[in-house]
Amino acid sequence: MRRVYIDANATTPLLPEVMEAMRPYWMENFGNASSIHLHGQHARTAVDRARETLTEFFNCHDAEVVFNSGGTEGDNTAVFGLLHPGDHFITTSIEHSAVLQAAQRMAPQGVETTFVAPQPSGLIDPHDILRAIRPETRLISVMLANNETGVVQPVEQISKIAADTGVFFHIDAVQGAGKIPIDVRKIGCHLLSISAHKMNGPKGIGAMFVRRGTPVESLLVGGSHERRRRAGTENVAGIVGLAKAAELAMHSLEDGTIDRLAGLRHRLETEILRLPGTGVNGSDNGNYVPRVANTSNIWFNQLEGEALVIALDLKGVAVSGGSACHSGATEPSHVLMAMGLDKARARASLRFSLLKTATEADIDYVLTVVPEAVQRLRALSPVEAGTLG
Ligand SMILES: Cc1ncc(COP(=O)(O)O)c(C=O)c1O
Repeated sequence: MRRVYIDANATTPLLPEVMEAMRPYWMENFGNASSIHLHGQHARTAVDRARETLTEFFNCHDAEVVFNSGGTEGDNTAVFGLLHPGDHFITTSIEHSAVLQAAQRMAPQGVETTFVAPQPSGLIDPHDILRAIRPETRLISVMLANNETGVVQPVEQISKIAADTGVFFHIDAVQGAGKIPIDVRKIGCHLLSISAHKMNGPKGIGAMFVRRGTPVESLLVGGSHERRRRAGTENVAGIVGLAKAAELAMHSLEDGTIDRLAGLRHRLETEILRLPGTGVNGSDNGNYVPRVANTSNIWFNQLEGEALVIALDLKGVAVSGGSACHSGATEPSHVLMAMGLDKARARASLRFSLLKTATEADIDYVLTVVPEAVQRLRALSPVEAGTLG
């Protein structure tokens, strides 16, 4: 059976070049980057080179790149590292739980958070951020692209608001990185987090841009690594893999890959939307708002999304549903609910997120499998059968 993985926003496979770049750093070049002997020097050189690549990726200075374990750590660092009792924090209700739960943890310590809701299209209105600012607001955190809908947020406008009001600004760029260019100087943010495994790099490694002079406290202590901003022996192979992935991602932003992906996504959406009772989450009265090119979130009336995810998996197509398992219970997506979808529609939504290596043949296959599965499940649904009161 053919297998099509169309869940790139969950994670991506390594590109072969990334694997090849990393391999020596687990084997012959296994040194600790803090050791002064030759083994250590090889590792240090690799970390320094990787840092250079990241300065290009972010458009920043090398002292402003901090390697860490990924998006969760970056998001947690912004919240725990900058906020103190009495501070006010502004974020949005569609952030990743690495921001949302960090905010919740700060509440008992006297940090109040305002969760700004998106418009029905999934876009955050910068005016809503401005309205939420108080004299004691210390930090704003808004994502670059949403992991479920792909909607790209107006971070430059929000950054300007933060600058004008003297508030620190963190961007969770985990889902935007590698899909749209990032330029921290142009954006004007203080902190920005990325994760390698969302852009064909390894899991458990990421990086954070920390603008010079930003007083963010280290989450981890116990060593002087990363200029005392992140203690722990460097994951040299991971850092090399992240840098290779970032380098390849920068090329892909210029070689037509993104336009090709947008074309594949357009075909996928257009064909699926021919099915009655379907629509895209991430549009404003039928007009799409800016979205990363690989992501499409589609609702299907009269369906349980989870049943469709399973039906597609049995046919070899891997996608994600609009619900997430929290403590054993399946809850509709907090992102779709915040956009104003009702529970049934949020549960009946699927996220299709294409790998950069996706092909026309992959889309052909998905387009043979999805309509058939939707029609079959709808025929079985209690709504269709008229047995739902
Ligand atoms: C928007 C966003 N932020 C943060 C994360 C967490 O990143 P990591 O898996 O590297 O911890 C994810 C992962 O799904 C994400 O999509």
